[in-house]
Amino acid sequence: MVKAEMTAFARANEAVSYLRANLPEGLQKPQVAIVCGSGLGGLADTIHPESRTEYDYASIPNFPRSTVAGHAGKLVFGLLGQKIPAVLMVGRAHYYEGHSIDQVAFPIRVFKQLGVDTVVLTNAAGGLNSDYAHLFLAGLAGTHPLRGPNEDEFGVRFPPLSDAYDLELRRHVHQTWKKVVSPESNRRLHEGVYAYVGGPTYETRAESRMLRMLGADVVGMSTVPEIVTARHCGLRVLAFSLVTNQVVLSPVPRGDDKVLQGKAADELTAILEKGKAGHEEVLEAGRAAAVDMQNLVAQTLLDVFDRI
Ligand code: HPA
Repeated sequence: MVKAEMTAFARANEAVSYLRANLPEGLQKPQVAIVCGSGLGGLADTIHPESRTEYDYASIPNFPRSTVAGHAGKLVFGLLGQKIPAVLMVGRAHYYEGHSIDQVAFPIRVFKQLGVDTVVLTNAAGGLNSDYAHLFLAGLAGTHPLRGPNEDEFGVRFPPLSDAYDLELRRHVHQTWKKVVSPESNRRLHEGVYAYVGGPTYETRAESRMLRMLGADVVGMSTVPEIVTARHCGLRVLAFSLVTNQVVLSPVPRGDDKVLQGKAADELTAILEKGKAGHEEVLEAGRAAAVDMQNLVAQTLLDVFDRI
């Protein structure tokens, strides 16, 4: 439950005090936070078991809980590649679950207070099809995680977002990609525009075409509130979308279309269901691609922090 009378700053500090009281010495101040999206929780397996300490979200004061299948709901601390102190969110809370939009992004503020300087966000997204950015229609319309009195401890009232996605980190990702993905792989690394939608319904064909027309390359129900909140408090941000399904853009035939003549009801259902998105498909694609994703994220971070 959100204690509305407390500022997010005070609530984040309360969560941090709880975690610090329980964390071993070497993990008190993680450098990197990784948010694992649908089906991408395997990223936590890149943490060496000896250094691993975990907490259920339910045990952490003020932390939002996730109710989505495929989202475990635990915070895993440990050393990435045996050397980078990291914290991983295995599963996240979403706006459609009933959390307020600032509560969805609250863990980012906990990471900031823990001493994290870089956040990597991952998600499952639907492909709608290049500059690199997001479209936050809800935010543009005012449903925004930074709405309300500005918390100056975190950042300024009017943060710019034209520089949201760290260029140095993105450069590293492309270099690392060449190392970790075999040339025979049919997976491709793109940079593109992510459109945030509130969910929990997947988009209609008309909505998908609208998002495509607005310049979106992928669509999903998470990540952007966290990114906005992370940039407000000066964290470096990198985000990955695993394209788990192709969104259906083609219109369905009209009810009086000739192609429908003589078709049985089950044939009509088949026409309508062709390409339909489903959560199981999203999780399955996540499982299949998880290893490539894991290697890419972990190796990128190792490459980046090795040089510092
Ligand atoms: N739409 C919205 N969110 C998603 C999708 C989608 O097609 N796939 C995975 N998350």
